[in-house]
Amino acid sequence: MSDAKLGLEDVVVAETELSRVDGQAGRLVLRGYALRELAGVHPFEEVTGLLWEGALGRPIDLGPARVAAHARSRTWGGALELPDGMDALRAALAQGVDPSLPEGPAILGTLAVAAAGWWRRRQGLELLEPDPSLSHAADYLRLLRGAAPTAAEAAALDTYLVTVTDHGLNASTFAARVVASTASDLVSALVAAIGALKGPLHGGAPGPVLDMFDAIGSPARAEAWVAAELKAGRRIMGMGHRVYRTRDPRAAVLTEAAGRLGDPRGRIEMAEALEEAAARLLAERKPDRPLRANVELFTAVILEALDLDRALFSPTFAVARSAGWVGHVNEQRARGRLLRPRARYVGPEPRALEGAAPGGAA
Ligand code: COA
Repeated sequence: MSDAKLGLEDVVVAETELSRVDGQAGRLVLRGYALRELAGVHPFEEVTGLLWEGALGRPIDLGPARVAAHARSRTWGGALELPDGMDALRAALAQGVDPSLPEGPAILGTLAVAAAGWWRRRQGLELLEPDPSLSHAADYLRLLRGAAPTAAEAAALDTYLVTVTDHGLNASTFAARVVASTASDLVSALVAAIGALKGPLHGGAPGPVLDMFDAIGSPARAEAWVAAELKAGRRIMGMGHRVYRTRDPRAAVLTEAAGRLGDPRGRIEMAEALEEAAARLLAERKPDRPLRANVELFTAVILEALDLDRALFSPTFAVARSAGWVGHVNEQRARGRLLRPRARYVGPEPRALEGAAPGGAA
């Protein structure tokens, strides 16, 4: 195929059985199951088993992996002292995982323990011993706070982890698959994925979403604020998606889960006012490009309702998405080829160096 014929949006570079993102219908399906049938119904450990082994009813036990990661945390050097949580995850994971455990669980255990440990160190507190008898969601909250969460809080975080655990060939998953496609190791693939997730156009949006809510102040001011932002040429965080031409189906799942926590800060009302105003004003400006709420608008709401500081939002996203990353790396290893997409060359035609004779001969 000539360069001119390559369509940049629609190039298919991998096959996957893990998840299907239907951007026209606004549906997310994990191995054949609609997200709604899984989130809040099947725990994260079981959905991880679905992603890795293909069937429900085979939960992956992550408790021993959290314990092993805690034991290894002294090998992480200054990772947990880094100012940014994603840098801390990247640095801790780069030290490798317990070789006596299966790699996938060891990675998930490392990320949960490192994210919680980074937060503890930031507060000047010591890391806590994981409790392998708890669910991944409940223990993660406990490791962060030092006290066990309520059943409702653990259920809300579990719903979040399942909701965002996999999402087709998103940028971080693609990064992981590119590294895996070179026959490199799992840790290297996941370190690359963390780097990709860190960016505000991917996993870094929910922190800025809360900053935006704070700047707006009250739902009644949402429209004027959005109008001013768009006039200034800025993007509205939590709106728009590369694939969805509808509202992101994960937004509704997270809104309901956040609602069950009571929404003490009134953030659901704020998010809905922002969404309504932004969707309307963006539709006026871009009638051909539907720009609706994405998952990050309501990720901010649910994680804040769980009392997570906004600095923890991206690391917590990584804790969830790591199950998808590992599943994709396994799939890439099993059936993929070296990923080597092409760039359309748009540079100058062949030309002579200044002062050189045409053809290059002196
Ligand atoms: N606010 C304002 N304008 C937006 C917008 C937003 N959130 N999202 C897209 N647009 C505009 C772009 O400015 C662009 O306009 P232009 O053609 O005049 O330059 C047009 O819509 C198309 O956007 P494009 O950049 O092609 O979309 P994309 O598929 O590359 O971007 C996102 C997808 C998610 C990166 C983008 O919607 C965005 O930046 N959203 C805000 C960040 C965010 O919420 N990220 C989390 C994603 S889950």
